[in-house]
Amino acid sequence: MGLKQWIIIVSALFCTTILTAKSVPQADKIISLPGQPQASFQQYAGYITIDEKQQRALFYYFVEAATEAASKPLVLWLNGGPGCSSIGAGAFCEHGPFKPSGDTLLRNEYSWNKEANMLYLESPAGVGFSYSANKSFYGSINDAIAARDNLAFLEGWYEKFTEYKNREFFITGESYAGHYVPQLAQLIIQSNMKFNLKGIAIGNPLLEFNTDFNSRAEFLWSHGLISDSTYDIFTRVCNYSQIRRQYASGSLTAVCSQVISQVSREISRFVDTYDVTLDVCLPSVLLQSKMLSQLQDKEEIDVCVEDETTKYLNRKDVQKALHAQLIGVTSWTVCSEVLKYDMQNLEIPTIHVLGKLAKSGIRVLVYSGDQDSVLPLTGTRTLVNGLAKEIGLNTTVPYRTWVEGRQAAGWTQVYGDILSFATIRGASHEAPLSQPRRSLALFNAFLGGKPLPGA
Ligand SMILES: *[C@@H]1O[C@H](CO)[C@@H](O)[C@H](O)[C@H]1NC(C)=O
Ligand SMILES: *[C@@H]1O[C@H](CO)[C@@H](O)[C@H](O)[C@H]1NC(C)=O
Ligand SMILES: *[C@@H]1O[C@H](CO)[C@@H](O)[C@H](O)[C@H]1NC(C)=O
Repeated sequence: MGLKQWIIIVSALFCTTILTAKSVPQADKIISLPGQPQASFQQYAGYITIDEKQQRALFYYFVEAATEAASKPLVLWLNGGPGCSSIGAGAFCEHGPFKPSGDTLLRNEYSWNKEANMLYLESPAGVGFSYSANKSFYGSINDAIAARDNLAFLEGWYEKFTEYKNREFFITGESYAGHYVPQLAQLIIQSNMKFNLKGIAIGNPLLEFNTDFNSRAEFLWSHGLISDSTYDIFTRVCNYSQIRRQYASGSLTAVCSQVISQVSREISRFVDTYDVTLDVCLPSVLLQSKMLSQLQDKEEIDVCVEDETTKYLNRKDVQKALHAQLIGVTSWTVCSEVLKYDMQNLEIPTIHVLGKLAKSGIRVLVYSGDQDSVLPLTGTRTLVNGLAKEIGLNTTVPYRTWVEGRQAAGWTQVYGDILSFATIRGASHEAPLSQPRRSLALFNAFLGGKPLPGA
């Protein structure tokens, strides 16, 4: 830190342009997060104002790469929802440098900042610490507004972090970010801003309403979570896309209501539908007896990390360290309780946007944690395969396993060296939460533009 400041001062004596090129926003610099272990890298957090008059601002958390930050790419990460926090979920539960545990932060050995400079954005306004002072804004948010504000955020952010302006840039995310990520990438290209956008990666994304949601029944049935007879009515009498559509319009028919009750009853409360093999986070009393009945295993996944994160981000000292404020809300929540997102937008297909991006030379990776029953790999794979055919991309790497640590880490297929599909074996909807090591290996290959390692 001292050395860097000294270099800046010396540079300023000789050449002011170097000073601006190297400038970093000191006000946004995080000195240290409460409970944080020693770190070799810089962290920043703060606001970018999107609209001065309406006082609308988006909150970001930026983690520089652990080593050789100046030569590593810049990666924006977006969680979905719509309305969930990329800092709460992405940074503190999935692939940030630290994970909250009690009063402290534990180091994440598989942090994505080993490979990139990671930018986490709470978007749209109304999510997490991001806000609009004029609350009417929250009443009518949709994909178009989210993309427009995300683009405005990037422009403002690059103004603060000028040294990143020409850096290789990737946009990544999961779930409903299957909308946010391609729509933002497309807007960047259309607006001629381009930055230095090289590629996008999306995990367990919503790409096309019917295919994605109707792949659920077979996934649940084939994993033994629902019976033969329930599978039958879940496909023949009332399917999941119908149910989602009816939910969105606020009225479930008696028949569909009966079907979804039967499905939920058979799945039970003890399964996390975002990972059919993962235990659920039980209330603390139950959890304690569970802890007592088994030996603690360090490698075990903390299924309660989201609760830990909520506690951590609501600490006043943590908010102060992050330069965060609660505006118009009384607490920080993982998913927004003020935002009214236009749920009709779920039906906007984004699979064709991926095709346009690939055609314009943007690398596209679509990956699936293979234990997710909410947006299962099977629907995603069908969509990507169909897209490749539609836009005439031939298979360049045929469907095969990819390997990490001498084990099968998933399966992959590459089309035309620009569009890839991959599964992450044993991973949830939030893949880096349950398979951190495999997820980091996938991320690394994606950034390098390399096919995933084979046997
Ligand atoms: C608040 O936002 C709404 C909708 O975005 C807008 O119509 C209204 O004029 C705004 N109010 C003020 C005081 O600017
Ligand atoms: C789901 O149900 C709708 C309405 O009956 C139907 O149009 C559609 O084909 C069904 N989808 C599947 C995958 O069965
Ligand atoms: C794709 O494969 C087909 C059939 O083998 C071939 O005719 C076509 O030229 C290939 N397209 C590209 C872009 O390589």
